[in-house]
Amino acid sequence: MEPRGLDELKRWFDDYTNRFFGQDEYVNLHLRMKQEHTRRTCEEMFYLVGRLSLDENQMRVAEMVALLHDVGRFPQFSLYRTYNDLRSVNHGCLGVEVLDREGVLEDLAAEERLWVRTAVAHHGQKALPKGLDDRTLLFLKLIRDADKLDILRIVSDIYRRRKEDPKGFSFEMELPDESRISPQVLNAVLNGQPIEYSRLRVFNDMRLCQIGWVYDLNFAASVERFHARNYLDDLLGYLPQTPDIAEVRRRISGYIDTRLAQQP
Ligand SMILES: [Fe+2]
Repeated sequence: MEPRGLDELKRWFDDYTNRFFGQDEYVNLHLRMKQEHTRRTCEEMFYLVGRLSLDENQMRVAEMVALLHDVGRFPQFSLYRTYNDLRSVNHGCLGVEVLDREGVLEDLAAEERLWVRTAVAHHGQKALPKGLDDRTLLFLKLIRDADKLDILRIVSDIYRRRKEDPKGFSFEMELPDESRISPQVLNAVLNGQPIEYSRLRVFNDMRLCQIGWVYDLNFAASVERFHARNYLDDLLGYLPQTPDIAEVRRRISGYIDTRLAQQP
């Protein structure tokens, strides 16, 4: 890939995503949030590639993946008014369709196109797919971590604002905001197991699921950021302070300590 390619891609991204803005301020708010999320995910990606020994071309592909990973979110919200894939479409697959339809990846070498398409298609899946080669896997692992780090920032901000002003804050609530927690979700987080999004029943399940993402972070540098930003205490603070939640805190703290002690 030529260095020039990235600037063109950034222009394409701005043009493409701006097409979906219109009269509906609710839709505009959500689209703006995804533009901002993309910019911040690129920053998280810079941090990660800076911590790993990647060559210049790998760094460029990583930046490209960060820029393009959520293009499917724009037609998704515009058409369905939700970011819930289960109630609309798989936004990763839709993103690949957009890139193909718009000819965005045409100038890339075949293997680079594969890396980008795979990362975009699978970045939001519950777990890493099996059978990918190490180089393809690298970009998928990077975007999954960079994406999660920024989503954690967003949700922490959303939870705080909703708590401060529950009525004045209009943002899509995908699940009922009840005080209970589903036992299946609690057990999965306690045991460090991935959670199917279809299992989430109430908003607290979503919060717990997001805390459990720490187990899915691929790089110690990502766990370090999760820890430095105090996401564990921050997000747990919005859940009922029960003995079960105290146990979640204890187990995840232990996991973080172990991951950080292992890194060189
Ligand atoms: Fe994302």
